[in-house]
Amino acid sequence: MLVTILCVALLPFGFASINTTLLPSYEVNALRVIGRTLGKKWDFTEDPCVEWVKHNDTGDGREDVVLCNCDSNGTICHVTSISLKGQSLVGTLPPEFTNLPNLLNINLARNNISGTIPSEWGSMGQILNISLVANLLNGQIPKEIGNISTLKILNLEDNMLSGTIPKELGDFTSIERLLLTSNSFTGELPASLANLNTIIEFRVGGNDFSGNIPEYIGQWQSLKILSIQGSGLEGPIPSSITLLASLSDLRISDLKGPDMLFPPFGNTTLLNTLILRSCNLFGNLPDSLPNSLKVLDLSFNKLSGRIPDGFNDLKATNYIYLTRNSLSGSVPDWMLTSGKNIDLSYNDFTPINTSNLSCQIRETNLFASFEKDNISKKSKEVSCLGNVVCPTCK
Ligand SMILES: *[C@@H]1O[C@H](CO)[C@@H](O)[C@H](O)[C@H]1NC(C)=O
Ligand SMILES: *[C@@H]1O[C@H](CO)[C@@H](O)[C@H](O)[C@H]1NC(C)=O
Ligand SMILES: *[C@@H]1O[C@H](CO)[C@@H](O)[C@H](O)[C@H]1NC(C)=O
Ligand SMILES: *[C@@H]1O[C@H](CO)[C@@H](O)[C@H](O)[C@H]1NC(C)=O
Ligand SMILES: *[C@@H]1O[C@H](CO)[C@@H](O)[C@H](O)[C@H]1NC(C)=O
Ligand SMILES: *[C@@H]1O[C@H](CO)[C@@H](O)[C@H](O)[C@H]1NC(C)=O
Ligand SMILES: *[C@@H]1O[C@H](CO)[C@@H](O)[C@H](O)[C@H]1NC(C)=O
Ligand SMILES: *[C@@H]1O[C@H](CO)[C@@H](O)[C@H](O)[C@H]1NC(C)=O
Ligand SMILES: *[C@@H]1O[C@H](CO)[C@@H](O)[C@H](O)[C@H]1NC(C)=O
Ligand SMILES: *[C@@H]1O[C@H](CO)[C@@H](O)[C@H](O)[C@H]1NC(C)=O
Repeated sequence: MLVTILCVALLPFGFASINTTLLPSYEVNALRVIGRTLGKKWDFTEDPCVEWVKHNDTGDGREDVVLCNCDSNGTICHVTSISLKGQSLVGTLPPEFTNLPNLLNINLARNNISGTIPSEWGSMGQILNISLVANLLNGQIPKEIGNISTLKILNLEDNMLSGTIPKELGDFTSIERLLLTSNSFTGELPASLANLNTIIEFRVGGNDFSGNIPEYIGQWQSLKILSIQGSGLEGPIPSSITLLASLSDLRISDLKGPDMLFPPFGNTTLLNTLILRSCNLFGNLPDSLPNSLKVLDLSFNKLSGRIPDGFNDLKATNYIYLTRNSLSGSVPDWMLTSGKNIDLSYNDFTPINTSNLSCQIRETNLFASFEKDNISKKSKEVSCLGNVVCPTCK
């Protein structure tokens, strides 16, 4: 009762003190509720559109910026962007963001916001970006979110979200970045996501999904970045994915499912990072890979045979990880002289020089990389260690 009286008494004073704002009162009201729900100490004696931006706080992973768009004849303003990054904000997500009809950007990254994503947000008819990365959010993604046809970026990474991905997310007609890494999502990726043909970046690792990596990903012609590391999804990797022409960054790891041959890489001339780690790949390496690669990780597979001559084109690749395979034949000279970071450990190569078996030559790791280094043998002798027995090798 007392609280109500106080509020009634204080509110008119609050409005009077921002008599100069060109922000409609319903937007000021929305900001008050948003501030209260997130624990933001905004000063409403100042004009949010004029004064707040003057003491914005950016840098060091922090951001504290409210932006408005005011029409040129100076009659009215609207809030367009609220970015409150890295402020240790607690509290929950306010549904009242929907009362800011011109809002294009919500960024609440790296706070301690808990609770669920409000289903009301599905009615934001204009928003472009929502980033809630690194908070303490839980519950499911509300299916209503799929109604935001303008949304380009949805970043929900590093939360505690769970449940299945609603099939309504396949209704996103503008989505470019759908980032879901490091949550507790389950179930299969819905078939409706096949419709996301505007997508550029898709990341789903660090979850408990089930089922196969969907074939339809190979139809996303704009896709540049795909990350499926430790997602729970099963192989095989559809070869349509590795033929996508715009692909620059492909990261897949820890696949369950059947063994598969190395997938083809055709016109992927922009490929910069290729990680296919622990993907049950068996058989030979491909004759060549795009020479645009800067990072190549094929470790923890069952690849065998020689390193093909076509790999000579990878001299500009800065990191090459082939550890824990069954590769054989001689180690190409360039791998010992290039000075790049190359890990050939735990393979079955022919020794380079039987009277001098080095564990490392320049930046190339040769530990247990030779055929005689059968580390599953009881002796656990690794030739480059000489007579030293390696007790922890396994
Ligand atoms: C705005 O409020 C201030 C006091 O906060 C007052 O001095 C001023 O006259 C008011 N301006 C208008 C246009 O009402
Ligand atoms: C933040 O404030 C500074 C100094 O007033 C200003 O130059 C800058 O444009 C502001 N940044 C934003 C995003 O409004
Ligand atoms: C101000 O401009 C808007 C369009 O941006 C227009 O609708 C409105 O009538 C204008 N108001 C005045 C007072 O000129
Ligand atoms: C935010 O959460 C982290 C980890 O959960 C915790 O260490 C930190 O103290 C929290 N900060 C606040 C302001 O609650
Ligand atoms: C949306 O996010 C992108 C990438 O962070 C940024 O370049 C763009 O300016 C944002 N849009 C708005 C309206 O803030
Ligand atoms: C999506 O919006 C339409 C109207 O635009 C509405 O009829 C429908 O109920 C909404 N769906 C959800 C899941 O909110
Ligand atoms: C590579 O691109 C060329 C020209 O764009 C095209 O003719 C060819 O079919 C493509 N090859 C593959 C394997 O996609
Ligand atoms: C092999 O290593 C020994 C001892 O370091 C060295 O004397 C010999 O020249 C090396 N042989 C070749 C072919 O590099
Ligand atoms: C063995 O080869 C490595 C690299 O080629 C060299 O640095 C090292 O001195 C050699 N050891 C002996 C004993 O010749
Ligand atoms: C390694 O040793 C084990 C046990 O002696 C044997 O079964 C296996 O075939 C060997 N592997 C290779 C590549 O020699």
